[in-house]
Amino acid sequence: MTKTHKPNSAAMLKRAHQNMPLGVADSYRYWGEDNTVFLSSMKGCTITDCDEQTFVDFRLAYGPIILGYRDERVDNEVINAITNIGTISGFSTGLDSDVVELVKSLCPNIDQMRFANSGTEAVIGAVRTARGFTQRNKIVVVEGGFHGLHDEVMWKSDVDNWEVSDNKSPEIIPFGAGIPQSTREHQVSVPLNDFDAIDAVFAEHGNDIAAILIEPIMGNCGSIASTQEYMQKLRDICDSNGSLLIMDEVKTGFRVAKGGVQALYNIHADITTYAKAMGNGYPVAAFGGRADVMSAISFDKNGVTHGGTYTANMVALSAAKATLTLLKETDALATIDHVGEKIQALLSRVFTKFGVEHCFAGPNAMFGVHFGANVPQNYRDWKKTNSDLYTQFAMNLIDNGVMLEPDSREPWFICEAHQTIDFEWLEQVAEKSMAAAING
Ligand SMILES: Cc1ncc(COP(=O)(O)O)c(C=O)c1O
Repeated sequence: MTKTHKPNSAAMLKRAHQNMPLGVADSYRYWGEDNTVFLSSMKGCTITDCDEQTFVDFRLAYGPIILGYRDERVDNEVINAITNIGTISGFSTGLDSDVVELVKSLCPNIDQMRFANSGTEAVIGAVRTARGFTQRNKIVVVEGGFHGLHDEVMWKSDVDNWEVSDNKSPEIIPFGAGIPQSTREHQVSVPLNDFDAIDAVFAEHGNDIAAILIEPIMGNCGSIASTQEYMQKLRDICDSNGSLLIMDEVKTGFRVAKGGVQALYNIHADITTYAKAMGNGYPVAAFGGRADVMSAISFDKNGVTHGGTYTANMVALSAAKATLTLLKETDALATIDHVGEKIQALLSRVFTKFGVEHCFAGPNAMFGVHFGANVPQNYRDWKKTNSDLYTQFAMNLIDNGVMLEPDSREPWFICEAHQTIDFEWLEQVAEKSMAAAING
């Protein structure tokens, strides 16, 4: 990463190793002994590390920052709420319905909603509700999708160790130790955009399929997206089989459009999960959908249980109320769309200059960059792209003050504050970074 000596970062990591496994609070933050990042502050679309290097950030905490870091319009509402209302009480406040009504005004797919504290928790709630409603067990997931860190969805297609020339499907493996084999019992995996595969799964397991769980635009797989026809296929097969369609909009919700991915496809889920952009960085999440489905949550003997101590706390909800109001009433998302388009155009100029075949996947607010001739249609196609070149290019960008995940499975996230960046500078940096990636 940054080639300059980083004495403060090194000291921070040394100290942190005494206190946390890998020296970090989340394993994905460990980027090796020389490259693990420790920040001192964030503002707008920039982050500054503890060695006083500032980066323009396209990682944005894996997506939550939609307006910008430390957006005062949001922060002031949170300060107001905790000063004048409180944080949590174990009871309800009017903020609960304020936020649900805002979501409903943006997302016609929502009749009723419940809150959670993270995307992971929202998905757990959605899946449990689907099972409770359908009285079935199986969940169909898509290769390359990511649905959080709970055992049942911590099984992945091992495309890293799969050869494109293989006739066999990639092996399904757990994310690591501690995930019992039994947690895989009720999960079936299919490649995205493969009509035959979904038909085969429903033919084999249809009676027990509670839901399909899908990120229609895979925010954890280079924004590779479902086609319109495939989303319609999923909607239809769920309807004819009495199964539910769960769209995991933890990354896409309130980012790719005011109404999320469902506004782009004009296809509605039965249950949807939200998090990330909903609170501009404050920890808020939710799941919701059809009123009849959500009413499976009840105290009935056969009802679904949902709740939690920190659910609908005032920090989260005041942030969500402020963020959603801004997204609804201003042209922030239009600005983001425009900026994302401009950045792809400048990157495209650079790649073309160096003769690098490239394509972009997904929407302007979170676009994937793939070095290959065709936009990947699923995770297996991603393996055909030159992801090693991408990683080298990304590492060089980081060296030059542009922060992003050095893995083409993570998209470039755009926030409203990116409108202030110097686009000419970014193009020059991209050029320098590609030249170094190609010439070594
Ligand atoms: C689509 C999707 N679902 C669920 C999650 C889990 O969210 P969290 O990290 O807030 O638990 C993520 C996180 O990146 C995600 O992208």
